[in-house]
Amino acid sequence: MSTKLSQQPGPIGVFDSGYGGLTILSKIKDAMPQYDYVYIGDNARAPYGPRSFEVVYDFTLQAVKKLFEMGCHLVILACNTASAKALRSIQMNDLPNIDANRRVLGVIRPTVESIGGLTATGHVGVLATPGTIKSESYPLEINKLFPNVEVTGEACSMWATLVENNEIDNEGTAYFIKKNLDSLIAKDSQIDTIILGCTHYPILLPLIKQLVPDDIQVVAQGEYVAESLKDYLKRHPEVDAKCTKHGRTLYYTTEAKDVFKESATRFLDEDIDVHRIVLD
Ligand code: DGL
Repeated sequence: MSTKLSQQPGPIGVFDSGYGGLTILSKIKDAMPQYDYVYIGDNARAPYGPRSFEVVYDFTLQAVKKLFEMGCHLVILACNTASAKALRSIQMNDLPNIDANRRVLGVIRPTVESIGGLTATGHVGVLATPGTIKSESYPLEINKLFPNVEVTGEACSMWATLVENNEIDNEGTAYFIKKNLDSLIAKDSQIDTIILGCTHYPILLPLIKQLVPDDIQVVAQGEYVAESLKDYLKRHPEVDAKCTKHGRTLYYTTEAKDVFKESATRFLDEDIDVHRIVLD
């Protein structure tokens, strides 16, 4: 594949199973408006949460290759499930064969790095997809940096599906949010910080905030990921030089473009141009 890939600078690629990565992209764009971005949402095959390691890896690699073909030298997996299940294999096994100078980064590490400064009790809850919880990525990564922090996970099997289907603020959604919050807090009553470990969940934040006890802070990842990326590009001028800067963003979805546009516009608060793409 390397012979086909352009060595000219290109946009930063941002990938998610669906709409969730938009919560990351919007914070990245706030922090770094001068860069160009290409977003791919694999809405036709979302949610990824219940899928096996092999399938999430295959789908994520397809998206990464597509973003490379579109000229990206740097791709952000704006999806915890893909970061947990595919990032390491892609970095270690695929990038050396595709192009060792291209970079793929995830969202779990930058989120985890912020945790030490956020919890006072040292008890942290993580709400995420079944896949991310099963991978144990959050406890493993947090305890590498903060061995004394107690991490409790809760798999929220319905939440990403509710977001993908635009069921954002109704009674049924509130039922599932309350059920998972109650279950998490019942497992550890000392939790003072809850990480939204799925990029879809900030879209549910107004409802989550209504239902969570006042003494627990709820942390979304977007700003941490954006700050970490900004810092990464400062520390890696050779990667930064491969990123074009005209302030443009292109949006691609594997589903119908009108459906994506209608939902995405609600989350992004801006009018966007959407194209359909096939991943294979
Ligand atoms: N937004 C994704 C995440 O951060 C995945 C949601 C899903 O497709 O299940 O985990």
